[in-house]
Amino acid sequence: MKAVGYKKSLPIEDAESLFDFDAAKPEPKGRDIRVAVKAISANPVDYKVRKRAAPPEGEVKILGFDAAGVVDAVGPDVSLFKRGDEVFYAGSILRQGTNSEFHLVDERIVGAKPKTLSFAQAAALPLTSITAWELLFDRLGAVPGKSLDPRTLLIVGGAGGVGSILIQLARRLTGLTVVATATRPESQKWCLELGAHAVVDHGKPMKEQIEKLKLPPVGLVASLTYTDQHYKAIADFMAPQGK
Ligand SMILES: NC(=O)c1ccc[n+]([C@@H]2O[C@H](COP(=O)([O-])OP(=O)(O)OC[C@H]3O[C@@H](n4cnc5c(N)ncnc54)[C@H](OP(=O)(O)O)[C@@H]3O)[C@@H](O)[C@H]2O)c1
Repeated sequence: MKAVGYKKSLPIEDAESLFDFDAAKPEPKGRDIRVAVKAISANPVDYKVRKRAAPPEGEVKILGFDAAGVVDAVGPDVSLFKRGDEVFYAGSILRQGTNSEFHLVDERIVGAKPKTLSFAQAAALPLTSITAWELLFDRLGAVPGKSLDPRTLLIVGGAGGVGSILIQLARRLTGLTVVATATRPESQKWCLELGAHAVVDHGKPMKEQIEKLKLPPVGLVASLTYTDQHYKAIADFMAPQGK
């Protein structure tokens, strides 16, 4: 099968930093399913892995996390999926990645592909969505339901991959006031279109901007990127007992 991989962590300009090669088609065992991959997404984690984690000498590492595709074969203990099912998932950093024609994944981390989405649309979702969901509900403890939550959720880096999903989850599934940070006209517009009640500019002092908006207290902050730059400011405007 065709795959894309690397042997050494090389500068991306190097022709060997990523190359096409023929890999053996993997056989599913246990609870693994084999997926005929129709679409993958590129995520910042791909370049971080490629830069930092070289495979053992002589081996090729296949990159890629998110995928959407069709179940092509199943291991003997699989109970949740059958050949022909359309699926999407985020894969595992411990295994070969999804940038290949066929891919093995444990059925327990796989979902049925939503029928309303194309393969490419479905492949764009898993890793950012799982991250945003776990952050919002498991870590920050946001309360699901549309009754009014008298707190503001501030999302620093709202237009990024995780932030874009987080804005939508928070607006559709909670009663929080949602404020995102963005610096560029297009990223500010994007956050508002996704549902943010307001946008502040993380390139300027945030406390004054937040005070001007006369929001409910900022009880929850998802600081998604450059936290070292913003930590002190966040502590200044965050409500007591905030998370
Ligand atoms: N992507 C994933 O699936 C994933 C999964 C697990 C964990 N994570 C982690 O989640 C965090 C966010 O990842 P991401 O992929 O969502 O990031 P991303 O897409 O690369 O984030 C881009 C955003 O960062 C904003 N930004 C740039 N400089 C900033 C600054 N100085 N202060 C605040 N915001 C700034 C930009 O806003 P403007 O353009 O408006 O300035 C832009 O919208 C990272 O720590 C990552 O390791 C990500």
